[in-house]
Amino acid sequence: MRLKVTIFVLLSLIASSVMAACLTIPENKTVIQFPSKLGDVTFAHKKHADLSITQCTTCHHKHQPTDTVMQPCHECHKHKVDKDDEAAPPKTKTVFHTRCIGCHEYTVASGGQAGPVKKKCKLCHVK
Ligand code: HEC
Ligand code: HEC
Ligand code: HEC
Ligand code: HEC
Repeated sequence: MRLKVTIFVLLSLIASSVMAACLTIPENKTVIQFPSKLGDVTFAHKKHADLSITQCTTCHHKHQPTDTVMQPCHECHKHKVDKDDEAAPPKTKTVFHTRCIGCHEYTVASGGQAGPVKKKCKLCHVK
């Protein structure tokens, strides 16, 4: 009986540490740079993930139930999308502007402090 309990405890510990590892931001992704013609965008990834208003899934959404949440957005959201392909995920520019600026505007509108809003292109796109 005691052995069973010990094994159960050990397995739970392993399971929870594996889950925690899956939801950790890798060292080299603490800050992410997105190249852009208008000026590169520097995204403080870890700082955003640590905000009280965010969870990992605030940005990392699933499309199919089988998708892994931590896949890079760029794997699905391409810079150029064929207009005739109705099943194609919306293009990079659209989804980043929607997600990033959307939250900033929402947060500012509710009296909080946030990053650049729509008209402030140059605060995100820095040459
Ligand atoms: C909150 C930050 C933010 C603001 C504000 C913002 N952008 Fe962006 N923009 C991004 C990110 C992030 C991308 C995605 C870069 C990538 O493709 O990897 C992007 C992509 C783009 C792209 C496509 C990539 C390229 O350069 O070819 C264009 C064009 C662009 N933005 C123009 C604008 C303009 C014009 C404005 C102001 C009206 C603006 N952005 C405001 C963050 C921002
Ligand atoms: C505010 C939005 C946001 C939040 C919150 C967020 N992320 Fe991210 N994450 C991103 C963006 C944007 C990228 C860049 C994706 C790309 O390059 O296409 C990224 C990239 C990643 C990558 C690298 C993927 C790769 O292979 O290049 C990992 C891993 C990751 N995030 C994990 C997490 C974890 C774990 C959390 C929660 C603790 C989290 N993220 C919270 C926006 C976010
Ligand atoms: C496995 C593929 C996949 C990955 C990875 C992915 N997306 Fe998506 N995303 C889609 C598809 C497909 C849609 C359109 C259908 C839907 O809403 O589910 C979409 C829709 C969106 C929308 C809504 C677009 C709109 O017009 O309102 C946003 C915003 C978005 N994604 C942002 C992101 C961000 C940010 C990341 C990375 C942190 C990301 N996506 C990663 C496939 C993906
Ligand atoms: C869920 C809400 C949310 C999302 C999504 C979000 N932001 Fe932010 N952002 C914030 C808040 C809140 C701040 C202010 C943080 C502070 O000053 O304490 C901020 C600050 C910033 C700043 C100012 C500099 C800094 O790091 O404080 C930049 C630039 C920025 N965000 C870019 C982005 C980009 C690019 C994306 C999309 C990839 C994004 N944000 C997505 C909420 C969000």
